[in-house]
Amino acid sequence: MNIRIFIAVALLFISQSIFSATTQPHIVILATGGTIAGTAANTTQTSGYKSGEIGVQTLINAVPEMKNIARVDGQQIANIGSENMTSDIILKLSQQVNTLLARDDVDGVVITHGTDTLDETAYFLNLTVKSDKPVVFTAAMRPATAISADGAMNLLEAVTVAADPNARGRGVMVVLNDRIGSARFVTKTNATTLDTFKATEQGYLGIIVNGTPQFETRVEKVHTLRSVFDVRNLRKLPEVVIIYGYQDDPEYMYDAAISHHVDGIIYAGTGAGSVSVRSEAGIRKAEEAGIIVIRSSRTGNGVVPVDKGQPGLVADSLNPAKARILLMTALTQTKNPELIQYYFRTY
Ligand code: SIN
Repeated sequence: MNIRIFIAVALLFISQSIFSATTQPHIVILATGGTIAGTAANTTQTSGYKSGEIGVQTLINAVPEMKNIARVDGQQIANIGSENMTSDIILKLSQQVNTLLARDDVDGVVITHGTDTLDETAYFLNLTVKSDKPVVFTAAMRPATAISADGAMNLLEAVTVAADPNARGRGVMVVLNDRIGSARFVTKTNATTLDTFKATEQGYLGIIVNGTPQFETRVEKVHTLRSVFDVRNLRKLPEVVIIYGYQDDPEYMYDAAISHHVDGIIYAGTGAGSVSVRSEAGIRKAEEAGIIVIRSSRTGNGVVPVDKGQPGLVADSLNPAKARILLMTALTQTKNPELIQYYFRTY
């Protein structure tokens, strides 16, 4: 090849690479641990392994296909099993996401997280992120060392969704197993299978077909930019505990919560939030002590109706764990029961 033609072709190639690197969306991956960063002793082990073992750069290096979609870099927020996630860490995570998305050179954020409590963290960010840029949670059900591990594809699809301009303004999303779910609605529904994140009543926001996100619906509940909650300068979240309703549920659970001076109680109630005589006595005692109590349903589906004869406020369709997240967030603003009930109807 003539040397001049060679130099011209080389310059064209270099300039195209620089152009595509600067025009690609910039997605930041925030890693918190979980099975997606987990390793097991052998390729068939899918339980009893260690989650939160692999660092964010190793996760990124394992999926070079992301480079065709976005300019990706990573930050390690934590590296833990999500059963050990705390309100201090989710507060720090929300603040870091807000800082990143306020930058002109960041187009979206992907968060890797353990599946066990992913729905709680994702819903907290849905309430507290002040941006309409995409925020996408992803995870894995099989550790990185397993045959047919699902983490690499889930991460690639999460970055694909975060880089898609159509993903803006849809609230915080959860991407696993080719599905795009809303943080408000999806929850982990199966202890072991890959298709675990579902919203039985509301379905998905969309799906990913052969690498292309296809959005189908939007969420009506208030989120992100329209949310009134602002935790950007907050140092600590209020303390809210969950008390489970069941046959023989004892009143002393409420006494314990009251003596620990909790700020709120979620009652994970039987059926449509029905309360036993013992729980009713406990809830009334807690309310007299100035503690906000929310009745939710342990069934995982349906709306808890307002019932004037029953104590406490109601959780709408939020499961007990997400109701706890909303009450912690609401209590950063108000202790007014009417306003808190309004938040539970609309967020
Ligand atoms: C965890 O939640 O950290 C462990 C389980 C998982 O990620 O699937």
